Amino acid sequence: MTTRKSGARGRAPGKSGSKAKTSRQSDTALGTTVSGASSSGPPDTALAEHAAEQAALAEAMPFNAAKPSEYAPADPTEPPEGVHEEMPSPTAGASTLSEKNASAKSGAATLEPQTLPGSLASKRVNSAGQALTTNQGVPISSNQDSLKAGLRGPTLLEDFVLREKITHFDHERIPERIVHARGSAAHGFFEAYESLSPLTRATVFADAGKKTPVFVRFSTVAGERGSADTARDVRGFAVKFYSDEGNWDLVGNNMPVFFIQDAMKFPDLIHAVKPEPHNQMPQAASAHDTFWDFVSLMPESTHMLLWVMSDRAIPRSYRMMQGFGVHTFRLVNSEGESTFCKFHWKPLLGTHSLVWDEAVKIAGADPDFHRRDLWEAIESGNYPEWELGIQAFSEADAERFSFDVLDSTKLIPEELVPVQPVGRMVLNRNPDNFFAETEQVAFCSAHVIPGIDFSNDPLLHGRIHSYVDTQLTRLGGPNFHEIPINASIAPVHNNQRDGLHRQAIARGRVAYEPNSLGGGCPFQAGAAGFVSFPKAIQPDNSPVDKVRGRPEKFAEHYSQATLFFESQTPQEQAHIIGGFRFELSKVTVPAIRERMVSSLRNVSQALALSVAEGLGIALPEPMPRTIKRTPKPEVTVSKALSLLALPGDGGVATRKIAIFVANGVEGESITAIMDALTGAGATVRLLGSRLGTVTSEEGETFEVDATLENSPSVLFDALVLPDGAEAVENLARNGHTLEFLKDQYRHCKAILALGASSSLLDKAGISPQLPTGAEDPGLMLAASSEALDPQIFITMVAQHRHPARDSDPPLV
Ligand code: HEM
Repeated sequence: MTTRKSGARGRAPGKSGSKAKTSRQSDTALGTTVSGASSSGPPDTALAEHAAEQAALAEAMPFNAAKPSEYAPADPTEPPEGVHEEMPSPTAGASTLSEKNASAKSGAATLEPQTLPGSLASKRVNSAGQALTTNQGVPISSNQDSLKAGLRGPTLLEDFVLREKITHFDHERIPERIVHARGSAAHGFFEAYESLSPLTRATVFADAGKKTPVFVRFSTVAGERGSADTARDVRGFAVKFYSDEGNWDLVGNNMPVFFIQDAMKFPDLIHAVKPEPHNQMPQAASAHDTFWDFVSLMPESTHMLLWVMSDRAIPRSYRMMQGFGVHTFRLVNSEGESTFCKFHWKPLLGTHSLVWDEAVKIAGADPDFHRRDLWEAIESGNYPEWELGIQAFSEADAERFSFDVLDSTKLIPEELVPVQPVGRMVLNRNPDNFFAETEQVAFCSAHVIPGIDFSNDPLLHGRIHSYVDTQLTRLGGPNFHEIPINASIAPVHNNQRDGLHRQAIARGRVAYEPNSLGGGCPFQAGAAGFVSFPKAIQPDNSPVDKVRGRPEKFAEHYSQATLFFESQTPQEQAHIIGGFRFELSKVTVPAIRERMVSSLRNVSQALALSVAEGLGIALPEPMPRTIKRTPKPEVTVSKALSLLALPGDGGVATRKIAIFVANGVEGESITAIMDALTGAGATVRLLGSRLGTVTSEEGETFEVDATLENSPSVLFDALVLPDGAEAVENLARNGHTLEFLKDQYRHCKAILALGASSSLLDKAGISPQLPTGAEDPGLMLAASSEALDPQIFITMVAQHRHPARDSDPPLV
């Protein structure tokens, strides 16, 4: 224990004229719980010694010396360490002197400073080789039948085994999260590249190579817990750092901006996007009246709408999306100096997305698409990795920007403030138990550690309140911070006590501060603890009015929406237009559609025109702008805003490739391509009409991994069609084959047709040439196994998609 003496206050117990050894009173007075001995009594018993120690501790603090420091402190950034005493003996703070009587349950009294263990190891249950028991640990003789009065008789109320089992089951569900209900998570670590001490005293950035355990949960926002992973939506990207100075939660999203500017509007936003209250439709979808009614009346949401209509809202994988802290935060160094900061996570695999038609079909084929992808990647040792970057800037810089850094509908272009890499995060362990970890984890934007602080973003301030408040209901009352996944690794010592489901068994009778009976412990950490950055409320110290309102720069709603749109490739722009068209075509009230298009006129004439055309309406007048004079933006095109800015490592690791097989396949080329793809790290699946085996021309057998019926095209990144006339004929007879092939083509994925299988392309209406006459860059024909160069195909797959083939509406 680090017990530091508090200057003038410390006096060793016993040295202070304690009356411990003076007068005598009745022997039984010691140890009574009411009006104990007026002096400490005979010194020859443990009780007397304990009482003497308590008396000495109390006497050592004749008054609270800290009081003067609490009023108008000379330097509020340097609060004093709390007054505390060295404990005179190991038992001085004990609740009971009987703590030495250990048992298997109470355990031995350890005299080291103790807290709940943060490590999950002590909570992990391994039932291997164990018999079933009740919750009271009673072995269960039979888990098959309830206890009945005779084999054909009634069930007995006496059956405590049955009743315990059913009662527990009855209460297995807890409320799902109000938002972000659907999610998946994994454990891993964060590793700092170098010390960031000039910028922050945050312990996770203390030294090069320092590793901090993390738990990361990805989620959708609008859908319920059982909804499909591939809904068009923002993705949550929440990281809990279990640092040695407590938990830091960076609760971000996969988009750098948000719909609203002030927390006051969050319930309205969520009410608008969730299923409509009268009929609970639609599930996990923003394509409905109330969402578009709300956002079209809230022009500050326009920038975020552009992101949500882009392919960012339908990621290929959690492993392939960026994360953003969204708000401006503060980094604070040990000198108390602050720098503003935005946080960015960049995936090593690059940023890749689905296309909308694919996302819709995956929702039916595999609603767990992202959950499965993350789980399987980690199980197979392909640990996803992100680089953490920061945009660090001064308050003076912030003053000069054309936008307000406290406005969460604005980003800071990387061209204006570059992103500086500061570390990496690797997810290398799946949870043991989804409920215990992923469901019960409680992230909270108020969880910061010394060195990380808040800005005055009014959206962030509402969040600081919201998370713990909602979790009190979701997780059944106080003390959910003690649930193993939420417990910090750093020890917890405070005077909070009791409440539902309390786990910590606090030792001693002191649960208040200041105290003398506990030697002043636990004492305030002073400047060693978290010190809020003392930002002046008004820089010139002019009087501050209570006000409901926003700064003027917040009123500019369109510049960055335009910046985003203009920074996209033509294909990305086309997908944004398609997104708006799809969503607004689901809106049933024409005036809402029109209102939205009139708003888009302030973003881009081309965008508004294309959306209007898609909806079959005339271009309405532009929506009146809130701000009179739009400040000149510093950056008008930012390449970093395109998904193509992060292509990834160029590999095919974990990409899923389907190889069709049927009786009569030409086995040699199948084996060659399978080996080459697997060697490059791809996941290969042999698909046939039915499970079982198929026999090649050469008489070799291949085991079918999955069927054309249970695994449609959208679950794969690329396709190999086999050679062998008989196999091709067999495949052509299955209607799924052409459907599969058409979707692979439509979704711009790489296709390899070996030998005779080119006839399948003809049947599907797929040409090796694009409508422009150019060769299709994602289609490879190999006349024979000798003509096959697997590397060419691997390079095609690594490009993820071949947008040259993209057309609206689809060609095939
Ligand atoms: C005032 C605005 C906001 C409020 C009031 C709010 C409130 C909430 C609430 C109540 C939850 C459920 C928490 C739980 O049950 O554990 C939640 C989850 C979440 N929120 Fe917010 N939120 C706001 C804005 C944002 C923003 C701007 C972001 C992104 C920067 C964000 C990211 C998340 C994430 C990632 C989760 C899921 C955490 C998890 O995986 O458990 N929220 N939010």
